[in-house]
Amino acid sequence: KRIVLFASGSGSNAEKIALYFADNTQVDVSLIVSNNPKAGVIERARRMHIPVLLFDRTTFYETSQITQLLLNQNVDLIVLAGFMWLMPAELVRAFPNKIVNIHPALLPKFGGKGMYGHYVHKAVVAAGETESGITIHYVNEHYDEGQIIFQASCPVLPSDTPEDVARNVQMLEHTHYPKIVADVLKLKHE
Ligand code: GRF
Repeated sequence: KRIVLFASGSGSNAEKIALYFADNTQVDVSLIVSNNPKAGVIERARRMHIPVLLFDRTTFYETSQITQLLLNQNVDLIVLAGFMWLMPAELVRAFPNKIVNIHPALLPKFGGKGMYGHYVHKAVVAAGETESGITIHYVNEHYDEGQIIFQASCPVLPSDTPEDVARNVQMLEHTHYPKIVADVLKLKHE
């Protein structure tokens, strides 16, 4: 099975997933796609000997390059791990139920455009929520609206700052995302 990871930022989730499958001969994490030449994920990919492909907005949305490339590589699953751009409609159509994303909150609350990274945790704290968590879902043409695959929650204490929430949510991401990707690939957990 072949996985391609998409990441725009630090890439800690991308790294956890790649390392999870590193010794698994059934799964090949063949490429990391990014839109940010300064992304920390590039250095993580280099250390893991995984090639990186950088796209600018015009190429990503105005050409078929990404869709053709992934079709030609017979990719089985596209895994978004902190990728900040919406998937092109053509790519979603070419990979029905084969694109998954992780959102650092309990959708449908705190989702949609602009609700990413730190903004989410600030909004959760500002709203006085008593819990937050992660949502792993299939990707369709709208932000954060695809079928939900998995959710896990963590408490939010009155004394918690957005940084506390971010740390607790990231623990859930790193714990669960690799295993859910394995499930979606129809592999048994190790
Ligand atoms: C995570 O919070 C994830 O939920 C969101 O983007 C962030 C990615 O973090 N989609 P990292 O780049 O994997 O460290």
